[in-house]
Amino acid sequence: MTDAPAKPHKGRGMEGFVATWYARQTAHDREEVQQTARRIADLLNPGSRVLEIAPGPGYLAIELAKLAGGRVTGLDISRTFVQIAAENARRAGVDVDFEHGDAADLPFPDGQFDFIVCRAAFKNFTRPLVTLNEMHRVLKDNGTALVIDLRKDYSPRAVSDYFKNRGFFTAAIIKLTFRTMLKSRAYSKESMMGLVAQSQFGQGEIRLDPIGFELWLRK
Ligand SMILES: C[S@@+](CC[C@H](N)C(=O)[O-])C[C@H]1O[C@@H](n2cnc3c(N)ncnc32)[C@H](O)[C@@H]1O
Repeated sequence: MTDAPAKPHKGRGMEGFVATWYARQTAHDREEVQQTARRIADLLNPGSRVLEIAPGPGYLAIELAKLAGGRVTGLDISRTFVQIAAENARRAGVDVDFEHGDAADLPFPDGQFDFIVCRAAFKNFTRPLVTLNEMHRVLKDNGTALVIDLRKDYSPRAVSDYFKNRGFFTAAIIKLTFRTMLKSRAYSKESMMGLVAQSQFGQGEIRLDPIGFELWLRK
């Protein structure tokens, strides 16, 4: 399979206390995650198979399992997150299959999923074109993939507003992470669409908000 030049950062998954800290912080995003899950669930049919790539603590996959009823699978490269997500699903009383694996080498046969979602993770992938092609491969014909991520030209003010209730210290750490790490990894609309054009999807639709984008892809 062809690939674009790999991205320079190491792309390690988040393990140990970093994963635990992230799980605690992103528990605050519950309302936004529930809203995203509702929008996705509206597009699914009974029995639809859903894959979340890089679910981290699993909050979105768990909400989807509550709403969609079909089979939901999550695949993450961090073993800590696979454990945290499985525990979160157990506590929520829903059945989600959280597995360990690499987005660039999905351990699934062709044409398995009706819907794939990947939130706040794509910019971290070191083999983005291979990953898009893997998403295409495991989607059913007429299936949809949704990539939600930070846009490179995000509004710093919108980020400040988003995190304003986290406490001074935590908000400062988060904003520093955006400036020093996330911004350099993030895609602009143009770079993202350039990648899509090279992929098996060929085309897609991108919707921007002040902080991020949603990329909608159809097979
Ligand atoms: C910032 S977290 C996002 C977690 C979650 N999607 C959310 O919305 O909060 C990035 C996630 O990407 C995962 N990840 C990074 N590289 C990966 C890869 N190559 N394959 C699968 N997961 C990966 C990390 O382990 C982590 O769970």
